Amino acid sequence: MKTHFMRLPPPLLLFILVAAAIPTLSSAACHPDDEAGLLGFKSGITRDPSGLLKSWRPGTDCCTWDGITCFNNRVSTIWLQANQPNISLSGTISPALSKVRNLGGIYLINLRNISGGFPDLLFGLRNLKYVYIENNKLSGRLPQTIGKLKQLEALSFTGNRFTGLIPSSISALTGLTQLKLGQNFLTGTVPVGIGQLKNLTFLDLSQNRLSGTIPEIFRSLTNLIILRLSRNNFSGQIPASISFLSSKLQYLELGHNALSREIPGFLGKFKALDTLDLSWNQFAGTVPKSFGNLTKIFNLDLSHNFLTDPFPEMNVKGIESLDLSHNGFHLKEIPKWVTSSPIIYSLKLARCGLQFNLDDWKPAETYFYDYIDLSGNQISGSPVSLLNRTDYLVGFWAASNKLQFNLVRLRIVKTLKDLNLSHNLITGKVPKGIAGLEKLNVSYNHLCGQLPASKFPASAFAGNDCLCGSPLPPCKM
Ligand SMILES: *[C@@H]1O[C@H](CO)[C@@H](O)[C@H](O)[C@H]1NC(C)=O
Ligand SMILES: *[C@@H]1O[C@H](CO)[C@@H](O)[C@H](O)[C@H]1NC(C)=O
Ligand SMILES: *[C@@H]1O[C@H](CO)[C@@H](O)[C@H](O)[C@H]1NC(C)=O
Ligand SMILES: *[C@@H]1O[C@H](CO)[C@@H](O)[C@H](O)[C@H]1NC(C)=O
Ligand SMILES: *[C@@H]1O[C@H](CO)[C@@H](O)[C@H](O)[C@H]1NC(C)=O
Ligand SMILES: *[C@@H]1O[C@H](CO)[C@@H](O)[C@H](O)[C@H]1NC(C)=O
Ligand SMILES: *[C@@H]1O[C@H](CO)[C@@H](O)[C@H](O)[C@H]1NC(C)=O
Ligand SMILES: *[C@@H]1O[C@H](CO)[C@@H](O)[C@H](O)[C@H]1NC(C)=O
Repeated sequence: MKTHFMRLPPPLLLFILVAAAIPTLSSAACHPDDEAGLLGFKSGITRDPSGLLKSWRPGTDCCTWDGITCFNNRVSTIWLQANQPNISLSGTISPALSKVRNLGGIYLINLRNISGGFPDLLFGLRNLKYVYIENNKLSGRLPQTIGKLKQLEALSFTGNRFTGLIPSSISALTGLTQLKLGQNFLTGTVPVGIGQLKNLTFLDLSQNRLSGTIPEIFRSLTNLIILRLSRNNFSGQIPASISFLSSKLQYLELGHNALSREIPGFLGKFKALDTLDLSWNQFAGTVPKSFGNLTKIFNLDLSHNFLTDPFPEMNVKGIESLDLSHNGFHLKEIPKWVTSSPIIYSLKLARCGLQFNLDDWKPAETYFYDYIDLSGNQISGSPVSLLNRTDYLVGFWAASNKLQFNLVRLRIVKTLKDLNLSHNLITGKVPKGIAGLEKLNVSYNHLCGQLPASKFPASAFAGNDCLCGSPLPPCKM
Protein backbone atom coordinates (compact mmCIF):
# COMPACT_ATOMS: atom_id res chain seq x y z
CA MET A 1 0.00 0.00 0.00
CA LYS A 2 2.83 2.38 0.91
CA THR A 3 4.54 1.80 -2.44
CA HIS A 4 1.29 2.72 -4.19
CA PHE A 5 1.24 6.06 -2.41
CA MET A 6 4.80 6.77 -3.46
CA ARG A 7 3.99 6.28 -7.12
CA LEU A 8 1.10 8.74 -7.10
CA PRO A 9 1.74 12.29 -8.29
CA PRO A 10 2.30 14.63 -5.29
CA PRO A 11 -0.96 16.65 -5.47
CA LEU A 12 -3.10 13.53 -5.48
CA LEU A 13 -1.02 12.03 -2.67
CA LEU A 14 -1.63 15.16 -0.62
CA PHE A 15 -5.35 14.92 -1.23
CA ILE A 16 -5.44 11.32 -0.07
CA LEU A 17 -3.44 12.06 3.08
CA VAL A 18 -5.79 14.91 3.98
CA ALA A 19 -8.83 12.81 3.29
CA ALA A 20 -7.40 10.06 5.43
CA ALA A 21 -7.07 12.46 8.32
CA ILE A 22 -10.81 13.22 8.29
CA PRO A 23 -12.36 10.27 10.13
CA THR A 24 -15.76 10.44 8.41
CA LEU A 25 -14.27 10.06 4.96
CA SER A 26 -11.65 7.50 5.77
CA SER A 27 -11.56 3.81 6.23
CA ALA A 28 -8.34 4.14 8.15
CA ALA A 29 -9.54 2.77 11.48
CA CYS A 30 -8.21 -0.60 10.46
CA HIS A 31 -4.46 -0.96 10.66
CA PRO A 32 -3.10 -2.27 7.33
CA ASP A 33 -1.34 -5.16 9.06
CA ASP A 34 -4.61 -6.16 10.71
CA GLU A 35 -6.46 -5.97 7.42
CA ALA A 36 -3.78 -8.04 5.72
CA GLY A 37 -3.79 -10.59 8.54
CA LEU A 38 -7.55 -10.98 8.55
CA LEU A 39 -7.75 -11.18 4.76
CA GLY A 40 -4.99 -13.78 4.95
CA PHE A 41 -7.16 -15.72 7.39
CA LYS A 42 -10.11 -15.38 5.01
CA SER A 43 -8.06 -16.71 2.10
CA GLY A 44 -7.34 -19.84 4.13
CA ILE A 45 -11.10 -20.46 4.29
CA THR A 46 -12.16 -22.59 1.36
CA ARG A 47 -15.90 -22.77 2.05
CA ASP A 48 -18.16 -20.32 3.83
CA PRO A 49 -21.65 -21.43 2.80
CA SER A 50 -23.52 -19.13 5.19
CA GLY A 51 -21.42 -16.04 4.41
CA LEU A 52 -19.94 -15.68 7.89
CA LEU A 53 -17.06 -13.67 6.39
CA LYS A 54 -18.98 -11.78 3.72
CA SER A 55 -18.44 -8.43 5.42
CA TRP A 56 -14.66 -9.01 5.34
CA ARG A 57 -13.97 -6.90 2.23
CA PRO A 58 -10.65 -5.25 1.37
CA GLY A 59 -10.65 -1.49 1.71
CA THR A 60 -13.46 -1.40 4.28
CA ASP A 61 -12.80 -0.78 7.96
CA CYS A 62 -11.93 -4.18 9.40
CA CYS A 63 -13.07 -3.01 12.82
CA THR A 64 -16.64 -3.13 11.47
CA TRP A 65 -16.33 -6.66 10.05
CA ASP A 66 -18.51 -9.37 11.55
CA GLY A 67 -16.76 -11.07 14.43
CA ILE A 68 -14.04 -8.40 14.82
CA THR A 69 -13.50 -6.15 17.81
CA CYS A 70 -10.91 -3.37 17.92
CA PHE A 71 -9.26 -1.60 20.78
CA ASN A 72 -7.29 1.63 20.14
CA ASN A 73 -7.75 1.04 16.41
CA ARG A 74 -6.07 -2.35 16.50
CA VAL A 75 -7.92 -5.63 16.13
CA SER A 76 -8.13 -7.16 19.59
CA THR A 77 -10.55 -10.04 19.18
CA ILE A 78 -11.72 -12.36 16.45
CA TRP A 79 -14.92 -14.14 17.46
CA LEU A 80 -16.58 -16.41 14.90
CA GLN A 81 -19.19 -18.69 16.37
CA ALA A 82 -21.82 -20.84 14.71
CA ASN A 83 -24.89 -21.67 16.73
CA GLN A 84 -26.89 -23.43 14.06
CA PRO A 85 -26.11 -26.78 12.47
CA ASN A 86 -26.24 -25.34 8.96
CA ILE A 87 -23.40 -22.86 9.57
CA SER A 88 -19.79 -23.94 9.06
CA LEU A 89 -16.40 -22.81 7.80
CA SER A 90 -14.00 -25.08 5.96
CA GLY A 91 -10.29 -24.56 5.49
CA THR A 92 -7.28 -23.94 7.70
CA ILE A 93 -6.16 -21.16 10.03
CA SER A 94 -3.72 -19.14 7.93
CA PRO A 95 -0.39 -18.25 9.56
CA ALA A 96 -1.06 -14.75 8.18
CA LEU A 97 -3.26 -14.19 11.21
CA SER A 98 -0.09 -13.58 13.22
CA LYS A 99 0.11 -10.15 11.49
CA VAL A 100 -2.80 -9.10 13.69
CA ARG A 101 -0.22 -8.18 16.28
CA ASN A 102 -2.42 -7.03 19.14
CA LEU A 103 -4.80 -9.95 18.99
CA GLY A 104 -5.83 -10.81 22.54
CA GLY A 105 -8.54 -13.35 21.86
CA ILE A 106 -9.22 -15.95 19.16
CA TYR A 107 -12.66 -17.56 19.33
CA LEU A 108 -13.41 -19.99 16.49
CA ILE A 109 -16.35 -21.87 17.93
CA ASN A 110 -18.56 -24.60 16.44
CA LEU A 111 -17.34 -23.87 12.92
CA ARG A 112 -17.14 -27.64 12.47
CA ASN A 113 -14.74 -27.90 9.58
CA ILE A 114 -11.64 -25.82 10.34
CA SER A 115 -8.82 -28.33 9.90
CA GLY A 116 -5.03 -28.45 9.97
CA GLY A 117 -2.56 -29.04 12.77
CA PHE A 118 -1.85 -27.09 15.93
CA PRO A 119 -1.96 -23.40 14.91
CA ASP A 120 1.71 -22.37 15.24
CA LEU A 121 0.78 -18.76 14.60
CA LEU A 122 -0.23 -18.61 18.27
CA PHE A 123 3.48 -18.47 19.12
CA GLY A 124 3.83 -15.16 17.25
CA LEU A 125 1.08 -13.35 19.12
CA ARG A 126 2.56 -11.79 22.26
CA ASN A 127 -0.68 -10.33 23.57
CA LEU A 128 -2.79 -13.41 23.09
CA LYS A 129 -4.65 -14.35 26.27
CA TYR A 130 -7.75 -16.26 25.20
CA VAL A 131 -7.85 -19.12 22.70
CA TYR A 132 -11.10 -20.99 22.14
CA ILE A 133 -10.91 -23.14 19.00
CA GLU A 134 -13.80 -25.45 19.77
CA ASN A 135 -15.73 -28.02 17.77
CA ASN A 136 -13.61 -28.00 14.65
CA LYS A 137 -11.31 -30.53 13.05
CA LEU A 138 -7.82 -29.59 14.16
CA SER A 139 -5.65 -32.70 14.30
CA GLY A 140 -2.13 -33.96 14.93
CA ARG A 141 -0.27 -33.51 18.18
CA LEU A 142 -0.14 -30.73 20.72
CA PRO A 143 3.49 -29.53 20.51
CA GLN A 144 5.86 -29.74 23.49
CA THR A 145 6.55 -26.04 22.81
CA ILE A 146 3.01 -25.26 23.97
CA GLY A 147 4.62 -24.30 27.31
CA LYS A 148 5.91 -21.11 25.64
CA LEU A 149 2.41 -19.63 25.51
CA LYS A 150 2.88 -18.34 29.05
CA GLN A 151 0.70 -15.28 28.59
CA LEU A 152 -2.43 -17.43 28.02
CA GLU A 153 -5.30 -17.17 30.49
CA ALA A 154 -7.63 -19.56 28.72
CA LEU A 155 -6.95 -22.38 26.28
CA SER A 156 -9.67 -24.52 24.78
CA PHE A 157 -9.36 -27.07 21.99
CA THR A 158 -12.50 -28.92 23.03
CA GLY A 159 -14.08 -30.92 20.23
CA ASN A 160 -11.19 -31.36 17.79
CA ARG A 161 -9.15 -34.35 16.67
CA PHE A 162 -5.87 -33.95 18.49
CA THR A 163 -4.00 -37.17 19.18
CA GLY A 164 -0.99 -38.16 21.28
CA LEU A 165 0.01 -37.12 24.77
CA ILE A 166 -0.83 -33.95 26.67
CA PRO A 167 2.61 -32.22 26.65
CA SER A 168 4.18 -32.01 30.11
CA SER A 169 5.23 -28.42 29.36
CA ILE A 170 1.60 -27.42 29.78
CA SER A 171 2.59 -27.01 33.45
CA ALA A 172 4.28 -23.73 32.45
CA LEU A 173 0.96 -22.11 31.54
CA THR A 174 0.43 -20.91 35.09
CA GLY A 175 -1.78 -17.98 34.05
CA LEU A 176 -4.50 -20.34 32.81
CA THR A 177 -7.89 -20.10 34.46
CA GLN A 178 -9.46 -22.44 31.91
CA LEU A 179 -7.90 -25.49 30.25
CA LYS A 180 -10.30 -27.41 28.06
CA LEU A 181 -9.06 -30.30 25.93
CA GLY A 182 -12.27 -32.37 25.99
CA GLN A 183 -13.53 -34.42 23.04
CA ASN A 184 -10.26 -35.16 21.31
CA PHE A 185 -8.27 -38.38 20.94
CA LEU A 186 -5.59 -37.67 23.51
CA THR A 187 -3.87 -40.67 25.04
CA GLY A 188 -1.51 -41.48 27.90
CA THR A 189 -1.76 -40.27 31.45
CA VAL A 190 -2.58 -36.86 32.90
CA PRO A 191 0.67 -34.89 33.30
CA VAL A 192 1.34 -34.27 36.99
CA GLY A 193 2.39 -30.70 36.13
CA ILE A 194 -1.24 -29.69 35.64
CA GLY A 195 -1.21 -29.54 39.45
CA GLN A 196 0.87 -26.34 39.13
CA LEU A 197 -1.86 -24.42 37.34
CA LYS A 198 -3.11 -22.85 40.56
CA ASN A 199 -5.41 -20.34 38.90
CA LEU A 200 -7.48 -22.97 37.09
CA THR A 201 -11.21 -22.65 37.66
CA PHE A 202 -12.21 -24.94 34.79
CA LEU A 203 -10.38 -28.14 33.82
CA ASP A 204 -11.92 -30.33 31.13
CA LEU A 205 -10.11 -33.43 29.85
CA SER A 206 -13.31 -35.42 29.27
CA GLN A 207 -14.00 -37.61 26.22
CA ASN A 208 -10.45 -38.53 25.33
CA ARG A 209 -8.54 -41.79 25.61
CA LEU A 210 -6.62 -40.96 28.75
CA SER A 211 -5.76 -43.81 31.07
CA GLY A 212 -3.97 -44.80 34.26
CA THR A 213 -4.94 -43.45 37.64
CA ILE A 214 -6.07 -39.87 38.10
CA PRO A 215 -2.89 -38.39 39.61
CA GLU A 216 -2.84 -36.58 42.96
CA ILE A 217 -2.66 -33.14 41.37
CA PHE A 218 -5.43 -31.27 43.16
CA ARG A 219 -3.76 -30.03 46.37
CA SER A 220 -3.05 -26.59 44.88
CA LEU A 221 -5.99 -26.39 42.48
CA THR A 222 -8.24 -24.92 45.12
CA ASN A 223 -9.84 -22.45 42.70
CA LEU A 224 -11.40 -25.21 40.61
CA ILE A 225 -15.14 -24.80 40.07
CA ILE A 226 -15.60 -27.28 37.24
CA LEU A 227 -13.69 -30.56 36.85
CA ARG A 228 -14.59 -32.86 33.97
CA LEU A 229 -12.67 -36.11 33.49
CA SER A 230 -15.53 -38.31 32.25
CA ARG A 231 -15.43 -40.69 29.28
CA ASN A 232 -11.80 -41.72 29.42
CA ASN A 233 -10.24 -44.93 30.64
CA PHE A 234 -9.14 -43.87 34.11
CA SER A 235 -8.79 -46.64 36.67
CA GLY A 236 -8.01 -46.83 40.38
CA GLN A 237 -9.72 -44.82 43.07
CA ILE A 238 -10.82 -41.20 43.30
CA PRO A 239 -7.58 -39.41 44.30
CA ALA A 240 -7.46 -38.24 47.91
CA SER A 241 -6.21 -34.79 46.90
CA ILE A 242 -9.64 -34.05 45.37
CA SER A 243 -10.63 -33.37 48.98
CA PHE A 244 -8.76 -30.04 48.70
CA LEU A 245 -11.45 -28.85 46.28
CA SER A 246 -14.20 -28.92 48.91
CA SER A 247 -14.83 -25.19 49.23
CA LYS A 248 -15.41 -24.11 45.61
CA LEU A 249 -16.03 -27.12 43.37
CA GLN A 250 -19.53 -27.03 41.88
CA TYR A 251 -19.26 -29.57 39.11
CA LEU A 252 -17.50 -32.94 39.30
CA GLU A 253 -17.83 -35.31 36.37
CA LEU A 254 -15.96 -38.63 36.50
CA GLY A 255 -18.51 -40.83 34.70
CA HIS A 256 -17.76 -43.48 32.06
CA ASN A 257 -14.33 -44.56 33.29
CA ALA A 258 -13.09 -47.66 35.08
CA LEU A 259 -12.80 -46.12 38.55
CA SER A 260 -13.28 -48.44 41.48
CA ARG A 261 -13.21 -48.85 45.28
CA GLU A 262 -15.58 -46.90 47.50
CA ILE A 263 -16.90 -43.41 46.97
CA PRO A 264 -14.87 -41.28 49.43
CA GLY A 265 -16.80 -39.79 52.35
CA PHE A 266 -15.06 -36.43 51.94
CA LEU A 267 -17.28 -35.65 48.95
CA GLY A 268 -20.04 -34.99 51.49
CA LYS A 269 -18.08 -31.90 52.58
CA PHE A 270 -18.24 -30.26 49.16
CA LYS A 271 -20.42 -27.32 50.17
CA ALA A 272 -20.88 -25.87 46.71
CA LEU A 273 -21.31 -29.11 44.75
CA ASP A 274 -24.36 -29.00 42.49
CA THR A 275 -23.49 -31.69 39.95
CA LEU A 276 -21.86 -35.04 40.65
CA ASP A 277 -21.52 -37.68 37.94
CA LEU A 278 -19.86 -40.96 38.94
CA SER A 279 -21.90 -43.09 36.53
CA TRP A 280 -20.61 -46.08 34.53
CA ASN A 281 -17.67 -46.94 36.77
CA GLN A 282 -17.02 -49.80 39.15
CA PHE A 283 -17.67 -48.09 42.47
CA ALA A 284 -18.69 -50.52 45.17
CA GLY A 285 -19.84 -50.38 48.78
CA THR A 286 -22.37 -47.93 50.14
CA VAL A 287 -22.90 -44.28 49.27
CA PRO A 288 -21.30 -42.33 52.15
CA LYS A 289 -23.70 -41.10 54.84
CA SER A 290 -22.00 -37.71 54.54
CA PHE A 291 -23.87 -37.24 51.21
CA GLY A 292 -26.74 -36.17 53.45
CA ASN A 293 -24.84 -32.89 53.78
CA LEU A 294 -24.84 -32.18 50.03
CA THR A 295 -27.67 -29.72 50.39
CA LYS A 296 -26.99 -27.99 47.07
CA ILE A 297 -26.78 -31.06 44.88
CA PHE A 298 -29.07 -30.62 41.88
CA ASN A 299 -27.79 -33.33 39.58
CA LEU A 300 -26.67 -36.68 40.93
CA ASP A 301 -25.80 -39.58 38.65
CA LEU A 302 -24.47 -42.73 40.33
CA SER A 303 -25.95 -45.13 37.75
CA HIS A 304 -24.22 -48.26 36.47
CA ASN A 305 -21.93 -49.05 39.40
CA PHE A 306 -21.95 -51.75 42.07
CA LEU A 307 -23.31 -49.65 44.92
CA THR A 308 -25.36 -51.27 47.65
CA ASP A 309 -27.90 -50.37 50.38
CA PRO A 310 -28.56 -48.39 52.41
CA PHE A 311 -28.88 -45.18 50.40
CA PRO A 312 -28.34 -42.18 52.71
CA GLU A 313 -31.15 -39.81 53.64
CA MET A 314 -30.46 -36.65 51.65
CA ASN A 315 -31.23 -33.12 52.85
CA VAL A 316 -31.37 -31.45 49.47
CA LYS A 317 -34.27 -29.05 49.04
CA GLY A 318 -34.77 -29.70 45.37
CA ILE A 319 -33.08 -32.33 43.27
CA GLU A 320 -33.34 -31.62 39.52
CA SER A 321 -32.08 -34.86 38.08
CA LEU A 322 -31.29 -38.14 39.76
CA ASP A 323 -30.04 -41.40 38.28
CA LEU A 324 -29.36 -44.34 40.58
CA SER A 325 -30.16 -46.99 37.96
CA HIS A 326 -28.34 -50.32 37.66
CA ASN A 327 -26.66 -50.71 41.02
CA GLY A 328 -27.39 -53.10 43.84
CA PHE A 329 -29.99 -50.90 45.57
CA HIS A 330 -33.27 -52.13 47.06
CA LEU A 331 -34.94 -48.79 47.66
CA LYS A 332 -38.47 -50.25 47.97
CA GLU A 333 -40.01 -46.78 47.62
CA ILE A 334 -39.10 -43.56 45.85
CA PRO A 335 -37.17 -41.54 48.49
CA LYS A 336 -39.07 -38.71 50.19
CA TRP A 337 -36.49 -36.09 49.17
CA VAL A 338 -37.25 -36.99 45.56
CA THR A 339 -41.03 -36.99 45.94
CA SER A 340 -40.91 -33.57 47.62
CA SER A 341 -38.62 -31.87 45.08
CA PRO A 342 -40.29 -28.83 43.52
CA ILE A 343 -37.93 -28.71 40.53
CA ILE A 344 -37.23 -32.28 39.45
CA TYR A 345 -37.17 -32.92 35.69
CA SER A 346 -35.41 -36.25 35.35
CA LEU A 347 -35.81 -39.30 37.57
CA LYS A 348 -34.10 -42.55 36.65
CA LEU A 349 -34.44 -45.44 39.06
CA ALA A 350 -34.20 -48.47 36.75
CA ARG A 351 -33.46 -51.72 38.61
CA CYS A 352 -33.43 -50.05 42.02
CA GLY A 353 -35.53 -52.65 43.83
CA LEU A 354 -38.66 -50.50 43.92
CA GLN A 355 -41.81 -52.27 45.18
CA PHE A 356 -44.77 -49.97 45.50
CA ASN A 357 -48.08 -49.09 43.94
CA LEU A 358 -47.69 -46.23 41.47
CA ASP A 359 -51.18 -44.93 42.37
CA ASP A 360 -49.82 -44.20 45.86
CA TRP A 361 -46.92 -42.07 44.63
CA LYS A 362 -47.90 -38.41 44.92
CA PRO A 363 -44.95 -36.25 43.81
CA ALA A 364 -45.13 -32.65 45.04
CA GLU A 365 -44.45 -31.24 41.57
CA THR A 366 -44.69 -32.91 38.16
CA TYR A 367 -44.66 -29.84 35.93
CA PHE A 368 -40.97 -30.01 34.94
CA TYR A 369 -40.69 -33.73 34.28
CA ASP A 370 -38.98 -34.64 30.99
CA TYR A 371 -37.82 -38.17 31.79
CA ILE A 372 -38.97 -40.90 34.13
CA ASP A 373 -37.30 -44.31 34.06
CA LEU A 374 -38.67 -46.91 36.47
CA SER A 375 -37.79 -49.99 34.35
CA GLY A 376 -36.96 -53.31 35.92
CA ASN A 377 -38.64 -52.91 39.30
CA GLN A 378 -41.69 -54.49 40.89
CA ILE A 379 -44.00 -51.51 40.64
CA SER A 380 -47.72 -52.27 40.57
CA GLY A 381 -50.73 -50.07 39.95
CA SER A 382 -51.16 -47.59 37.12
CA PRO A 383 -49.21 -44.64 35.64
CA VAL A 384 -52.44 -43.06 34.34
CA SER A 385 -52.78 -40.35 36.99
CA LEU A 386 -49.02 -39.64 36.98
CA LEU A 387 -48.94 -39.12 33.22
CA ASN A 388 -52.08 -37.05 33.51
CA ARG A 389 -49.95 -34.55 35.48
CA THR A 390 -46.74 -34.52 33.42
CA ASP A 391 -47.53 -32.07 30.66
CA TYR A 392 -44.07 -31.97 29.10
CA LEU A 393 -42.88 -35.54 29.48
CA VAL A 394 -40.49 -36.69 26.72
CA GLY A 395 -39.57 -40.21 27.85
CA PHE A 396 -41.38 -42.68 30.09
CA TRP A 397 -39.76 -46.04 30.65
CA ALA A 398 -41.39 -48.58 32.90
CA ALA A 399 -40.67 -51.90 31.17
CA SER A 400 -40.50 -55.05 33.28
CA ASN A 401 -42.79 -54.12 36.16
CA LYS A 402 -46.24 -55.22 37.29
CA LEU A 403 -48.22 -52.28 35.98
CA GLN A 404 -51.85 -53.09 35.39
CA PHE A 405 -54.11 -50.61 33.59
CA ASN A 406 -56.04 -49.99 30.41
CA LEU A 407 -53.70 -48.45 27.85
CA VAL A 408 -56.53 -46.43 26.28
CA ARG A 409 -56.73 -44.37 29.49
CA LEU A 410 -53.07 -43.30 29.30
CA ARG A 411 -52.71 -39.69 28.23
CA ILE A 412 -50.05 -39.33 25.55
CA VAL A 413 -48.92 -35.69 25.59
CA LYS A 414 -47.60 -33.98 22.47
CA THR A 415 -44.06 -33.79 23.85
CA LEU A 416 -43.80 -37.56 24.47
CA LYS A 417 -41.27 -39.24 22.15
CA ASP A 418 -40.30 -42.48 23.83
CA LEU A 419 -42.61 -44.86 25.67
CA ASN A 420 -41.52 -48.28 26.90
CA LEU A 421 -44.06 -50.37 28.79
CA SER A 422 -42.86 -53.78 27.66
CA HIS A 423 -43.30 -56.75 30.06
CA ASN A 424 -46.16 -55.52 32.25
CA LEU A 425 -49.80 -56.55 32.75
CA ILE A 426 -51.37 -53.86 30.56
CA THR A 427 -54.81 -54.47 29.02
CA GLY A 428 -57.04 -52.77 26.46
CA LYS A 429 -56.28 -51.60 22.93
CA VAL A 430 -53.35 -49.66 21.51
CA PRO A 431 -54.57 -46.04 21.11
CA LYS A 432 -54.13 -43.94 17.95
CA GLY A 433 -52.07 -41.41 19.93
CA ILE A 434 -48.99 -43.64 19.76
CA ALA A 435 -48.48 -42.69 16.10
CA GLY A 436 -46.82 -39.43 17.19
CA LEU A 437 -44.09 -41.20 19.21
CA GLU A 438 -40.56 -41.78 17.95
CA LYS A 439 -40.05 -44.98 19.94
CA LEU A 440 -42.58 -47.36 21.41
CA ASN A 441 -42.52 -50.75 23.08
CA VAL A 442 -45.67 -52.29 24.50
CA SER A 443 -44.57 -55.89 23.90
CA TYR A 444 -45.39 -58.68 26.36
CA ASN A 445 -48.59 -57.35 27.90
CA HIS A 446 -52.26 -58.35 27.57
CA LEU A 447 -53.24 -55.97 24.81
CA CYS A 448 -55.86 -56.89 22.23
CA GLY A 449 -57.55 -55.57 19.10
CA GLN A 450 -56.57 -53.89 15.86
CA LEU A 451 -53.40 -51.80 15.83
CA PRO A 452 -53.62 -48.19 14.66
CA ALA A 453 -51.37 -47.16 11.76
CA SER A 454 -47.78 -46.57 12.94
CA LYS A 455 -44.16 -46.93 11.89
CA PHE A 456 -43.14 -49.29 14.69
CA PRO A 457 -41.77 -52.78 14.03
CA ALA A 458 -43.63 -55.95 15.01
CA SER A 459 -41.31 -56.48 17.99
CA ALA A 460 -42.82 -53.38 19.62
CA PHE A 461 -46.16 -55.23 19.85
CA ALA A 462 -45.02 -58.87 20.20
CA GLY A 463 -46.15 -61.18 22.98
CA ASN A 464 -49.63 -59.71 23.59
CA ASP A 465 -52.94 -61.56 23.86
CA CYS A 466 -54.71 -60.73 20.63
CA LEU A 467 -53.24 -57.70 18.84
CA CYS A 468 -53.64 -57.77 15.07
CA GLY A 469 -53.14 -55.68 11.96
CA SER A 470 -49.96 -54.28 10.43
CA PRO A 471 -47.11 -54.85 11.35
CA LEU A 472 -48.65 -57.98 12.97
CA PRO A 473 -50.74 -60.46 10.94
CA PRO A 474 -54.11 -59.11 9.76
CA CYS A 475 -57.15 -59.23 12.02
CA LYS A 476 -59.64 -62.03 11.37
CA MET A 477 -62.93 -60.67 10.07
C1 LIG B 1 -30.04 -22.14 9.12
O1 LIG B 1 -31.21 -22.70 9.69
C2 LIG B 1 -32.02 -21.76 10.34
C3 LIG B 1 -33.18 -22.50 10.98
O2 LIG B 1 -32.82 -23.79 11.32
C4 LIG B 1 -32.53 -20.73 9.34
O3 LIG B 1 -33.31 -19.76 10.01
C5 LIG B 1 -31.33 -20.05 8.69
O4 LIG B 1 -31.78 -19.18 7.67
C6 LIG B 1 -30.40 -21.07 8.07
N1 LIG B 1 -29.21 -20.39 7.61
C7 LIG B 1 -28.60 -20.70 6.49
C8 LIG B 1 -27.38 -19.90 6.17
O5 LIG B 1 -28.98 -21.59 5.74
C1 LIG C 1 -14.76 -29.90 5.16
O1 LIG C 1 -13.47 -29.57 4.72
C2 LIG C 1 -12.93 -30.51 3.80
C3 LIG C 1 -11.48 -30.15 3.53
O2 LIG C 1 -11.25 -28.80 3.68
C4 LIG C 1 -13.79 -30.51 2.54
O3 LIG C 1 -13.30 -31.45 1.62
C5 LIG C 1 -15.23 -30.87 2.92
O4 LIG C 1 -16.07 -30.75 1.78
C6 LIG C 1 -15.74 -29.93 4.00
N1 LIG C 1 -17.02 -30.40 4.46
C7 LIG C 1 -18.08 -29.59 4.55
C8 LIG C 1 -19.34 -30.21 5.08
O5 LIG C 1 -18.06 -28.43 4.20
C1 LIG D 1 -3.40 -15.93 39.37
O1 LIG D 1 -4.52 -15.11 39.72
C2 LIG D 1 -4.17 -14.04 40.57
C3 LIG D 1 -5.47 -13.37 41.00
O2 LIG D 1 -6.28 -13.10 39.89
C4 LIG D 1 -3.23 -13.09 39.87
O3 LIG D 1 -2.88 -12.02 40.70
C5 LIG D 1 -1.99 -13.87 39.47
O4 LIG D 1 -1.14 -13.05 38.72
C6 LIG D 1 -2.36 -15.10 38.65
N1 LIG D 1 -1.19 -15.92 38.43
C7 LIG D 1 -0.61 -16.02 37.27
C8 LIG D 1 0.59 -16.90 37.23
O5 LIG D 1 -1.04 -15.46 36.28
C1 LIG E 1 -8.36 -49.29 29.51
O1 LIG E 1 -7.32 -49.56 30.44
C2 LIG E 1 -7.14 -50.94 30.71
C3 LIG E 1 -6.05 -51.05 31.74
O2 LIG E 1 -6.34 -50.26 32.84
C4 LIG E 1 -6.76 -51.66 29.44
O3 LIG E 1 -6.64 -53.03 29.68
C5 LIG E 1 -7.83 -51.43 28.38
O4 LIG E 1 -7.45 -51.97 27.15
C6 LIG E 1 -8.07 -49.94 28.17
N1 LIG E 1 -9.20 -49.77 27.28
C7 LIG E 1 -9.21 -48.88 26.30
C8 LIG E 1 -10.45 -48.80 25.48
O5 LIG E 1 -8.25 -48.18 26.04
C1 LIG F 1 -22.82 -33.01 58.23
O1 LIG F 1 -22.12 -31.85 58.60
C2 LIG F 1 -22.17 -31.59 59.98
C3 LIG F 1 -21.52 -30.23 60.22
O2 LIG F 1 -20.33 -30.11 59.49
C4 LIG F 1 -21.47 -32.70 60.74
O3 LIG F 1 -21.53 -32.47 62.11
C5 LIG F 1 -22.19 -34.01 60.41
O4 LIG F 1 -21.50 -35.08 60.99
C6 LIG F 1 -22.25 -34.22 58.90
N1 LIG F 1 -23.11 -35.35 58.64
C7 LIG F 1 -22.65 -36.45 58.09
C8 LIG F 1 -23.67 -37.52 57.90
O5 LIG F 1 -21.50 -36.57 57.73
C1 LIG G 1 -56.70 -35.89 34.34
O1 LIG G 1 -56.70 -34.50 34.68
C2 LIG G 1 -57.93 -33.85 34.45
C3 LIG G 1 -57.78 -32.39 34.82
O2 LIG G 1 -56.56 -31.91 34.36
C4 LIG G 1 -59.01 -34.49 35.30
O3 LIG G 1 -60.25 -33.90 34.99
C5 LIG G 1 -59.05 -35.98 35.02
O4 LIG G 1 -59.97 -36.59 35.91
C6 LIG G 1 -57.70 -36.61 35.20
N1 LIG G 1 -57.78 -38.00 34.83
C7 LIG G 1 -57.23 -38.94 35.57
C8 LIG G 1 -57.42 -40.32 35.04
O5 LIG G 1 -56.63 -38.72 36.59
C1 LIG H 1 -37.86 -51.38 26.17
O1 LIG H 1 -37.44 -52.12 27.30
C2 LIG H 1 -37.06 -53.43 26.98
C3 LIG H 1 -36.83 -54.16 28.27
O2 LIG H 1 -36.04 -53.39 29.14
C4 LIG H 1 -35.82 -53.39 26.10
O3 LIG H 1 -35.43 -54.69 25.74
C5 LIG H 1 -36.15 -52.59 24.86
O4 LIG H 1 -34.99 -52.41 24.09
C6 LIG H 1 -36.71 -51.23 25.19
N1 LIG H 1 -37.17 -50.60 23.97
C7 LIG H 1 -37.14 -49.30 23.79
C8 LIG H 1 -37.68 -48.80 22.49
O5 LIG H 1 -36.70 -48.51 24.60
C1 LIG I 1 -39.35 -54.41 22.68
O1 LIG I 1 -39.03 -55.12 23.86
C2 LIG I 1 -38.81 -56.49 23.60
C3 LIG I 1 -38.70 -57.20 24.93
O2 LIG I 1 -37.83 -56.58 25.79
C4 LIG I 1 -37.58 -56.63 22.74
O3 LIG I 1 -37.30 -57.99 22.48
C5 LIG I 1 -37.82 -55.92 21.43
O4 LIG I 1 -36.65 -55.92 20.64
C6 LIG I 1 -38.22 -54.47 21.70
N1 LIG I 1 -38.61 -53.86 20.44
C7 LIG I 1 -38.41 -52.56 20.21
C8 LIG I 1 -38.85 -52.03 18.91
O5 LIG I 1 -37.91 -51.83 21.05
